Amino acid sequence: METKEHLTQYSSLKDRFLEELSLIKSTVELNTLRARYIGKNGAVTAALKTLAGLPTEVRGSVGKLINEDKTLITTALKEKEDILKKQEISKKIASDKIDITLPGYYKKAGGRHPVSIVMKEIIDVFVSMGFSIEEGPEVETDYYNFEALNIPKDHPARDMQDTFYISTNHISRAETSHRDADVLLRTHTSPVQIRAMQRTTPPLRFIAPGKVYRCDSDITHTPMFHQIEGLVVDTNISFANLKAVLEGFLQLVFDRNLPVRFRPSFFPFTEPSTEVDIGCFFCEQSGCRICKGTGWIEILGAGMVNPKVFQMVGYDTERYCGFAFGIGIERVTMLKYGIDDIRLFYEGDLRFLRQF
Ligand code: PHE
Repeated sequence: METKEHLTQYSSLKDRFLEELSLIKSTVELNTLRARYIGKNGAVTAALKTLAGLPTEVRGSVGKLINEDKTLITTALKEKEDILKKQEISKKIASDKIDITLPGYYKKAGGRHPVSIVMKEIIDVFVSMGFSIEEGPEVETDYYNFEALNIPKDHPARDMQDTFYISTNHISRAETSHRDADVLLRTHTSPVQIRAMQRTTPPLRFIAPGKVYRCDSDITHTPMFHQIEGLVVDTNISFANLKAVLEGFLQLVFDRNLPVRFRPSFFPFTEPSTEVDIGCFFCEQSGCRICKGTGWIEILGAGMVNPKVFQMVGYDTERYCGFAFGIGIERVTMLKYGIDDIRLFYEGDLRFLRQF
């Protein structure tokens, strides 16, 4: 009788457990349930403790029953735990999944300025022809920028290049004419010719890339721009050499077989002088806005070095001759990339610069 009572009491424990177990949804809940039944203060543990107070005749069978239940509960907990753990892992995997189609975060890399890109291209072409590279100061004296290049004080050619003067012999510009000034920002890279010739004896074959400055600002002029000067001096240099070098250079830089035209022109430091045009590749020479309807685009100035310039640096004019040329880099860059406003180069607008 007593045994049966006890048995009923304990079997309800197992049923209660199974019912609670069926409602468990996570390992956290499962751990609480485990503690409540088979933990140190759990229901099964408590039931086992009551055995001591039972009459000896029922103790054995009740004890057996509780132990069987304990085994069943332990096994059920373990099975449930395995299932829950698996579910939780797959849930975690599903939620941790990376959407590789999302745009990533990235550091924007800097890039070369279009003028630097073209400058390097031009330098590479001349280096491949055996030219070396010279440099000269951007702050120049009147002597190197004008005088030694056969542009004397009163020469009208000085008006061709509107100059930024730095020192005006301590007299303000209003009180003096430009001609009294002797320190200035170079208006072209030609002074490098003089410096190089003063330093060395022929043969000479170099280019001089760099910044130049003129008081000028509009859609095709900036106060600072870049030129590459070229100078070749030797005993047997002719206009044919000048033509060959410049034609070869133009084909390489514009990467196409261009018509090239040499037009008579004037520079005080070259004689004869020429301005070199390329056939307009925007309209196949039929005439457009870029070539102003002429079919030709002016690209550089050149000529045979004026013997007066050789005299200024003490070269024997009977022995030596040579040619020189000057190219505007911004102009070449604008043509190569179809840019119609030179000011875009120096506004620092990343939307423009990132295209290169
Ligand atoms: N220095 C000239 C200019 O800036 C270009 C040039 C260089 C012309 C060398 C002839 C020879 O316009």
